[in-house]
Amino acid sequence: MASEPKFMVIGFLFLILKAASAQQLGVYNVKAYGASGYGQIDSTKAFQDAWNASCATAGKPRIVIPEGKYLVGPLVFKGPCKGMQVIELRGELLASTDLSIYVSNWIQFQYIDGLIITGNGRFNGQGATAWPHNQCPKKWSCKLLPTSLVFSYVTNATIMGVTLLDPKLFHMQVFKSNYVTFNSIRVTAPGDSPNTDGLHIAESSNIVVNKAVIATGDDCISIGPGNRNLSITGVTCGPGHGISVGSLGKTPGENDVVGLTVRNCTFIGTSNGLRIKSWQSSVSALKASGFHYEDIVMKDVYNPIIIDQEYCPYVSCPEKDPSLVKITDVTFKNIRGTSLSEEAIKLVCSASNPCEGVQLQDIHFEYTGDKPNISLTSTCVNAQGFSNGNVNPNSCV
Ligand SMILES: *[C@@H]1O[C@H](CO)[C@@H](O)[C@H](O)[C@H]1NC(C)=O
Ligand SMILES: *[C@@H]1O[C@H](CO)[C@@H](O)[C@H](O)[C@H]1NC(C)=O
Ligand SMILES: *[C@@H]1O[C@H](CO)[C@@H](O)[C@H](O)[C@H]1NC(C)=O
Ligand SMILES: *[C@@H]1O[C@H](CO)[C@@H](O)[C@H](O)[C@H]1NC(C)=O
Ligand SMILES: *[C@@H]1O[C@H](CO)[C@@H](O)[C@H](O)[C@H]1NC(C)=O
Repeated sequence: MASEPKFMVIGFLFLILKAASAQQLGVYNVKAYGASGYGQIDSTKAFQDAWNASCATAGKPRIVIPEGKYLVGPLVFKGPCKGMQVIELRGELLASTDLSIYVSNWIQFQYIDGLIITGNGRFNGQGATAWPHNQCPKKWSCKLLPTSLVFSYVTNATIMGVTLLDPKLFHMQVFKSNYVTFNSIRVTAPGDSPNTDGLHIAESSNIVVNKAVIATGDDCISIGPGNRNLSITGVTCGPGHGISVGSLGKTPGENDVVGLTVRNCTFIGTSNGLRIKSWQSSVSALKASGFHYEDIVMKDVYNPIIIDQEYCPYVSCPEKDPSLVKITDVTFKNIRGTSLSEEAIKLVCSASNPCEGVQLQDIHFEYTGDKPNISLTSTCVNAQGFSNGNVNPNSCV
């Protein structure tokens, strides 16, 4: 029956109409490109084809990923595109667990001006089988596993509503990008998963993170060199290592970090709260300045406020020269909660480049560690600044 000419003609017309209407509306459904929503068959090519078609479309085309599970290997969503790109993620993307197929990262967005990623879908890095292969917590130089989402040379982007889980390395990374906003993102990985930073930002400006919930094994948000004007508000971190500027100074030619606001954030059971760290022997001399931390609540945090310019997580680091990173104008204001260590405030700055303009204002911590009869302390080494309001433990600046 189906081979009768009139049915074939009708079928053919239907296909043309379907394609035409998809084209007109600018909707690119990955299923129309052959993606399988049952999580078994590799759908990498379908996703890449859908992107290429959408990227070549002017206006505001939309890539739709319907409910279902889609197994995909490395994807490069590369621009420049003709229009603004919208990706509506309703399903779950599953990263291939075959490490041999990755060149660098899992899903990369590059050279795009105008991008929206929206929906209640999930990016599942399926990292558990890769974690034992990660040597970075032990070795100074190590091969990096794939990060789940990487935005490089992206401007004017909003990522909202989506969930990321179990990456092989970082959940997300922003590099050489401007005006990127993360809104209401959820990030989840076990507290002992290695190097699973929630978001790492480097060489970028005007990046905003608002209302995220980040539970992971490493930094909640880490801020590398070369960043300007970052804003982090309404973020809940824990478990994990807290919000960290650094580690700075590891590689030659690092650029300054200037302008960071962290406001209305909560830390629950993290190893650090607000941290600035630079390597013990930095090869790079750079400035880190204009950081403002305000309205922060912490519960059972091991190092609530910490500047560590002698950072060396390994048994030994190359040399022991003082850090060349100069930290200035850092304000900690209205910060309260509980500390698991006695040293709730620890400001260990560089002997050759002391911290200047460190301000402590209205800080209150109580001890919730195991030791009896502990009163909290604050430690300052090469740290200059001032305090006002009530500061408990008593300020050392
Ligand atoms: C997608 O477009 C890029 C160029 O932008 C090209 O290199 C690549 O082969 C295309 N991929 C597919 C699957 O068509
Ligand atoms: C960002 O994208 C929106 C939507 O396309 C557009 O209206 C706006 O002009 C863009 N802003 C910049 C700074 O490119
Ligand atoms: C800093 O970032 C915020 C949020 O993106 C933006 O509104 C503001 O204009 C930026 N300031 C500068 C000086 O670029
Ligand atoms: C603080 O952040 C929470 C989300 O953690 C949000 O619901 C609340 O509205 C924020 N408050 C202010 C004053 O911005
Ligand atoms: C703790 O302090 C109380 C009262 O000051 C004292 O009786 C007790 O011996 C102290 N315990 C320890 C282990 O120092």
